[in-house]
Amino acid sequence: MIDILIIGSGVAGLYAGVNTPKSKNCLIITKGMPWQSNSFYAQGGVATALNKKDIQLHINDTMKAGDNYCSLEAVKALSENSLSVIDDIIKMGFEFDKDENGKLAYTKEGAHSSKRILHANGDATGRFLHSFLMQKNPHAIESNLIVTDLLIKDNICYGVEVLDSNNKLKHIYAKSVVIASGGIGSLYKYSTNEKSISGDLHGICINKGIELIDMELMQFHPTSYISKDKTANLLSEALRGEGALIVDEYNRRFLFDYDERAELAPRDVVSRAIFDYQQKNSTKVYLSFENFDKNFFKIRFPNIYKTLSEFGFTLPRDKIKISPAYHYSMGGIKTDLNGKIPNIKNLYAIGEVACTRVHGANRLASNSLLETLVFPKRAIDDILSKNFNFKKIDFKIKDKELEKKDDLKIELELQNLMWNFIGIIRYKDKLKFSLQEIDKFLSSDIGELLKFKLLTAKSIVKQALNRKKSLGAHYIIN
Ligand code: SIN
Repeated sequence: MIDILIIGSGVAGLYAGVNTPKSKNCLIITKGMPWQSNSFYAQGGVATALNKKDIQLHINDTMKAGDNYCSLEAVKALSENSLSVIDDIIKMGFEFDKDENGKLAYTKEGAHSSKRILHANGDATGRFLHSFLMQKNPHAIESNLIVTDLLIKDNICYGVEVLDSNNKLKHIYAKSVVIASGGIGSLYKYSTNEKSISGDLHGICINKGIELIDMELMQFHPTSYISKDKTANLLSEALRGEGALIVDEYNRRFLFDYDERAELAPRDVVSRAIFDYQQKNSTKVYLSFENFDKNFFKIRFPNIYKTLSEFGFTLPRDKIKISPAYHYSMGGIKTDLNGKIPNIKNLYAIGEVACTRVHGANRLASNSLLETLVFPKRAIDDILSKNFNFKKIDFKIKDKELEKKDDLKIELELQNLMWNFIGIIRYKDKLKFSLQEIDKFLSSDIGELLKFKLLTAKSIVKQALNRKKSLGAHYIIN
């Protein structure tokens, strides 16, 4: 039997694997291919306290960006452990970018009071970290396994049911299961997320009566470029940290009308300002690189430079039309600070799928990659300290239709609904309408996989309706 089964191969899942001794029988499973994760696409970097003295400032910035809704305990755990996890990956051989003196190069992003974001290969931090951990992970990774159920009986998790690439359902039994399946991006029409990330595990948990919290707290990234194929291409906040400006058609930096920190205000503030300004003034909004030198742009942001050039832009001359896009879920499966899901033995959740309330109501930029290092280590340490054992029981594979013919059509309708009515600004009547629509979808002839997505969407709308006052990224007009 497997000792530790990890669902998801983003940085959280891989770092959990890296922290699991070789002597353990550990398996990482992934829905698509291992790189199909949000962390692979993270551009900006990893936030960290600069030194012991900076811990309190990092905590203050995180709390403030999170609208003081964060769990102080979780934020302390994040920041206090930041120095040791960064040290750990550097000692393992990971190379962050350095300055001309060979010292670690730190950058700034919105709502940070100092330059404390480490980055790798300019704007490819997530991809580099992911590839590095893929090399260091000593355990097997099995791709193309879609989780279709958690095997839970009498509050004990015995493993998972999966659909394999031959379309066969099978069971994988494990002494501990760690969910690291990421967020919910594909429930939205415009999202910076990897396309396969769609909140399925959230839905499975709801189906099992596991508590999800803060699901209405969604972060919309202010700067994405929507290409012709409707993809929201992320334009890292680090661009603004290095001097890129947000302007209207007349080159006016209108963000000052909303917040004196302008481009470096927290993400929820900037996204809402762009949305509001566009609605009131019917103007397009742009990211301007007028302060950038061409060589600096190419060296500091090689991937964004390449992507935008391939779309036909001449940089840094051209301004890029931008739009906010769905980016990150602050809420998720409720866990303690070791990733443990309450009331179910040996079941854990880490990374974006989990909610320790570390991000509060709005995540501070680049705290997510840090979270995917700090909490997976704590979870594995907890699992190893418990050495949980149980008598295996056999679950029967039940026949079910995972996909049905109208699923795709309903999924597209759901994406529009989420984007239009559960977006940057929410209205109570539109939320109520959305809930009715989702219930209608749920009662139609749908496959099991779509049901999970709809359950997740329903929990977002229900929790948005329950939170009657605006908080952080949840902005509601009654
Ligand atoms: C970005 O580079 O702006 C995204 C990284 C993050 O979400 O912190």
